[in-house]
Amino acid sequence: MTINQTKPVAAVVLCAGRGERMKSKTTKMLHDLCGRPLCAWSVGAAVEASNDKVVVVLGHQATDVKAALEERFPGSLTYVVQTEQRGTGHALQVALAALPDFDGTLLVCCGDTPLIEAKELVGLVHVQQASDAPLAFLSLELAEPTGYGRVLRGKDGQTQAIVEEREATDEQRAITEINSGIYAMDAAFARDAAAKLVPSAVKHEYYLTDLVATAASKGGAFAKKTEPHQTHLLLGVNDRVQLQLCELWLRLRINTRWMESGVTLAAGNVHIDADVELAPDVTVGPHVVLRGKTRIDSGAVIEVGTVLTDTVVGENSVVHPYSVCEQAVIGRNASVGPFARLRPDSVLDEAVRVGNFVEVKKSHLRRDAKANHLAYVGDADVGEGTNIGAGTIMCNYDGFEKHRTTLGQDVFIGSNSTLVAPLAIEDGAYVAAGSVITQHVPADATAFGRARQENKEGYAKTLRERRKKSS
Ligand code: UD1
Ligand code: CA
Repeated sequence: MTINQTKPVAAVVLCAGRGERMKSKTTKMLHDLCGRPLCAWSVGAAVEASNDKVVVVLGHQATDVKAALEERFPGSLTYVVQTEQRGTGHALQVALAALPDFDGTLLVCCGDTPLIEAKELVGLVHVQQASDAPLAFLSLELAEPTGYGRVLRGKDGQTQAIVEEREATDEQRAITEINSGIYAMDAAFARDAAAKLVPSAVKHEYYLTDLVATAASKGGAFAKKTEPHQTHLLLGVNDRVQLQLCELWLRLRINTRWMESGVTLAAGNVHIDADVELAPDVTVGPHVVLRGKTRIDSGAVIEVGTVLTDTVVGENSVVHPYSVCEQAVIGRNASVGPFARLRPDSVLDEAVRVGNFVEVKKSHLRRDAKANHLAYVGDADVGEGTNIGAGTIMCNYDGFEKHRTTLGQDVFIGSNSTLVAPLAIEDGAYVAAGSVITQHVPADATAFGRARQENKEGYAKTLRERRKKSS
């Protein structure tokens, strides 16, 4: 959704805090949430809801947070660094330095509120612009308000201030209307009021929430109360329990979207990351995990327990149970697994079959090629229609370097063969079962790389009789 209004709307997203309650070496902003760093969710909503600069306030692990955001929103964000985290109000002061001439509405939200969507932000902007109040914010009723700032209202029902839990009296703590940390304010007001902030009595931090009292005294602060069925959109992540709670909501949102667009999902535990793409008529079994930029085309079936990371699955292909694929490309009408492993840079063309306990790495299997059971296909080019027998191993590593194996078209590799790379086996050639192949095999030849069999007539009987006598 792009916002269609004449007045400019800029945004500030506060991402400098460490998030002590996560008890982690990694800043809260970079904890994974459905395949995206936590802060990317609210930054994305802010980008969508604004039509001017989006300023991100960095602090803890600033370089890493910036790199993660730049990867997702290249060139669209302005960064400022709050070197010392002296509170949300101080963070706003730092952000305003990057908006010296901005005149319009300023959206302010936190990097730890991932469920908020652009439409709620735009709604809040409209409310602020339509009212005479220089500031509007989203509030909500929470039966269990612990940890949040409470909204103080006067006898007339008008918002007077927000009091933080630490500073609240017992009576104020009993208030169940809380501050979401999402605000829309007039930029000139913000500049003036932020400059006048003073540190809080208890924590000696500059509180952004103090702007509410200032606004209340200068034309009003409008608390837009969120409908009860939508309060989850404002959930904040301060600890790992809240992170999981947000993950559950997001999974529901993501899965609902795909089911509505024609994808069948099993009822049990299907994890689909936010950047996965599924075509209509894809079927996903229970306990499947689809990660990163995985893309699945129409008619494909991903069966129980499979984990796909950054993998493409072509039309009508089946990935059988418990397969693990990463950075692989599977063509149409192909069959993979059960229990197959495709490692990075595996490309399977149309109708390729890779069966149980087969590992493929950095290899290209062309149309109709097969490796149906128990094989290692590493650093290989496998021609059309070629069959790799059970137990075949490509010896691609000599302890120092990796080498490639090339198999031509319609080659037949007998079971339990050992192919020592670098090696080429040309079109139509056969390799006898149990061979160790170290040399080039020309087209249409049969290669035997094993000891010749010798039968000693009657010798088994002789052995048996010898045993009998001695016992
Ligand atoms: C804040 C609000 C509280 C509200 C709650 C909603 C204040 C003082 N309190 O509390 O009223 O109910 O959010 O979730 O604003 N940050 C910085 N620089 C800093 C401090 C924080 O960028 O110096 C960032 C954090 O990274 C975070 C956001 O600001 O994204 C909020 O900070 P946090 O410490 O989580 O505030 P809360 O205690 O949740
Ligand atoms: Ca918070």
